[in-house]
Amino acid sequence: MTVPASRQGVPRIVARPDTRPMREEVLRGLESEPKTLPPKLFYDETGAHLFEQICELPEYYLTRAELEILRARSGEIAELAGPRVALLEYGSGAGVKIRLLLNALETPAAYVPIDISREQLGRVSRELHAEYPGVAIRPLNADYTLPLAVPPLPEGSRRVAFFPGSTIGNFHPMEAAIFLGRVRRAVGKGGALILGVDRRKNATTLNAAYDDSAGVTAAFNLNILARLNRDLHAHFDLRTFEHRAFFNSRASRVEMHLVSTVEQIVMVGGEPIHFDKGETIWTESSYKYDRARLEELIETAGFRLRELWTNRKRQFWVAYLEAV
Ligand code: AVJ
Repeated sequence: MTVPASRQGVPRIVARPDTRPMREEVLRGLESEPKTLPPKLFYDETGAHLFEQICELPEYYLTRAELEILRARSGEIAELAGPRVALLEYGSGAGVKIRLLLNALETPAAYVPIDISREQLGRVSRELHAEYPGVAIRPLNADYTLPLAVPPLPEGSRRVAFFPGSTIGNFHPMEAAIFLGRVRRAVGKGGALILGVDRRKNATTLNAAYDDSAGVTAAFNLNILARLNRDLHAHFDLRTFEHRAFFNSRASRVEMHLVSTVEQIVMVGGEPIHFDKGETIWTESSYKYDRARLEELIETAGFRLRELWTNRKRQFWVAYLEAV
């Protein structure tokens, strides 16, 4: 007999051991041409907090648009998903969106939040454990861009993955297809994926969303350097770098960079990194999808488009995908 989730105590975080130490990944990025850093490095405690502030900005429409869709469609989602679902969330963050699903679903069996930010993951897991005593909470502290082992789930539960926020946009299109293919294998036959995707739109709206007037996105971007200073004993002088974000129309992505305003050498993990004046570190891409590109991605990954919902202003999509 299985022990009811409510009796299994406070959720214990399962951490996946780091296979690629941060130092090597950072140096590989900073020694390549152009210089890059992986966006997952944004989400230390300060960065996770700054991202929550970004979601409240008037210019950053994504979160509000997606919440509008999830609120309007949670009933339909619940009907498609059916009872006793095990939800796997890739990048669980502050845990706002998942409550909409947990409230709508019929007797959800389990919730597996997967997140790189350990502090936030622990806090959200404890909160949800208290709020949803019938749901087995199985937090996974991991970098989901790497293959991961899904913890054992209640017997007879159907797996539904949840990947909101248009985080899929952080992957280059080819990597996005590979990643969703892994999600497809993680949910298995009969499984599904609820995917949030930002729609391609005019450059003015996109540029404002990633370069807000209050400077929160700039602080979020620059925080990556503060983090390297702390965790890798790097020597970045944050006053010599500037936030730059723009929509690259040809590639259909917003690019975020940190521009060195002077020529300089910065020590990072014991290695000297040279910057020309005006040279940038490319810290993030946020790909914006049109319908054709989205359908191509879905098909390549082994899913079938069951429903595609948008918000009133038609800014964002939530797709319900079934594993084929
Ligand atoms: C969390 C990856 C969806 O790309 O829009 C927000 C991150 N970067 N502002 C995005 C982000 C700058 C966000 N994602």
